[in-house]
Amino acid sequence: MRDLIHFEGFVRGAQKPATGIVAADSVFRHEIARQRSVHFFTIGDRRLAYVLSDETGIMAAKGIEERSLVLFRLRPKHLPNRVRMLLLPSLEQVAPLYTAKGETLSDRQHSDWDPRDDAVLSDQRRAYDEMRDRCPVARSDFLDWSLFNHKHIKDVLADPKAYSSASRHRAIPNGMDEPEHTPYRLVLDQFLDVKAMTVFEPHCRRIAADSVPSIRASDTVEIVSAFIEPFSLKSLCAFIGWPLDTWDHLRGWLHGNQQAALSSDRAAGMSLAAEYAGFVMKEIDVRRNEGVDMRNDLTSGLMTAEVNKTRLSDDDIVSILRNWTAGHGTVAAGIGLVILFLAEHEELQQQIRNDPAMLPAAIDEILRVDGPLVANRRTATRDVQIGGQEIAAGSKITLMWIAANRDEETFDAAYEVQLDRDPAENLLFGWGIHVCQGIRLARLEMRVAIEALLAQTTRFQLVAVDSPKRDIYPSNGLAEMTLRLS
Ligand code: HEM
Repeated sequence: MRDLIHFEGFVRGAQKPATGIVAADSVFRHEIARQRSVHFFTIGDRRLAYVLSDETGIMAAKGIEERSLVLFRLRPKHLPNRVRMLLLPSLEQVAPLYTAKGETLSDRQHSDWDPRDDAVLSDQRRAYDEMRDRCPVARSDFLDWSLFNHKHIKDVLADPKAYSSASRHRAIPNGMDEPEHTPYRLVLDQFLDVKAMTVFEPHCRRIAADSVPSIRASDTVEIVSAFIEPFSLKSLCAFIGWPLDTWDHLRGWLHGNQQAALSSDRAAGMSLAAEYAGFVMKEIDVRRNEGVDMRNDLTSGLMTAEVNKTRLSDDDIVSILRNWTAGHGTVAAGIGLVILFLAEHEELQQQIRNDPAMLPAAIDEILRVDGPLVANRRTATRDVQIGGQEIAAGSKITLMWIAANRDEETFDAAYEVQLDRDPAENLLFGWGIHVCQGIRLARLEMRVAIEALLAQTTRFQLVAVDSPKRDIYPSNGLAEMTLRLS
């Protein structure tokens, strides 16, 4: 439903005030509150754009000449009295700015925030909290639409028909929709079930125990590079049957991937994809050459697994393992954030030392408040409305997990870690058909890593409050954290 807003004003140089009706919808009102966007509307045969009276708004009107600036007064009580308006000399100038529908307001042109702004990246949690309060359904050039509110995100997760996970590049199973997704998910679930975790736990513990001497070599340690990353990536290598020393290549690959995602560097992304395929193909070839004596590990398991009575292709295996490797970047981020919290909250650290059974709930709750993974994406398959915003079919929608998990509408005292909190609404691992497939492995590895650190120390603290350096989008983990161990 569109609101009708009466206006009157002067076109610069004209003698008589112009009056008319501006068609606007909730986007319009919302943008007025934003104070920095440009929108377009039609009056008779004229196309007009309005911008709010700040420099940023005018700057946003790319390609529109300032000489056509006009002033209008908008009359509804809830709108500011004066806004600047642009009178566009010709329709041609406006046409490229229009969406396919060519309607009055262009969703494509306005921008509510810049996800790559230094102010956002320097404190992601605070920035996303602020967006959730200020503009829970926000548009940006980098991400298209982003959702910050728990309820909106859960509504999206509940409707995978309207919000597709399909991706341009084959991604199994996260880039698949129903019905294709289910058979892949069912087959792959078997590799990550409770039984698989029981078999893997002793190996995982050994990797943690072997990593600890390197952190006990001195009283202070930069724990991300000394323990967290090697542990999580060696665990992955052990889990899938790769030589443990591959972990360092995987670390380089993960870091490169994160940078490419932030800079939207497609060429770098493609070269990293080729590099990753190279790692996997090497392992596949080793096993293929073993013929009937092929070793029995998870990579071999994937080589013989069938979906819809067809073996997974090499490309499929590359895609699957690429996801699992990315998941281990998130595991490393999660371990770092839990250690950081325990270093900053020594009383809780001590309680968990005394009662390690508290650890699983503590991990999930600490990571609810300080999430390791910023977001995942969907594509609207039809025109939808979220929080009063019209979102056109084909738009990208980014689900901001970190913001949803700190939503005060959903969680009492949302920013506080409360171990007795009902975990049902925690979206740490997502929800719905795409809920994290590696959830058991992630929880196991995070628990084992932190248990090992607790077991080998009587106390750990930050050497300085500003010692942790954060990673930035798409991660929210730690790049560095120096601890004093005793
Ligand atoms: C603390 C660590 C982790 C966190 C917080 C995490 C979080 C998530 C979230 C939020 C989703 C939902 C994505 C969406 O709805 O689009 C997801 C999906 C997924 N995760 Fe994780 N993840 C973690 C570790 C892992 C690990 C270790 C693996 C692999 C072994 C993994 C494999 C996957 C896969 C394959 C999916 C897609 C599932 C599907 O589409 O059906 N994750 N994860």
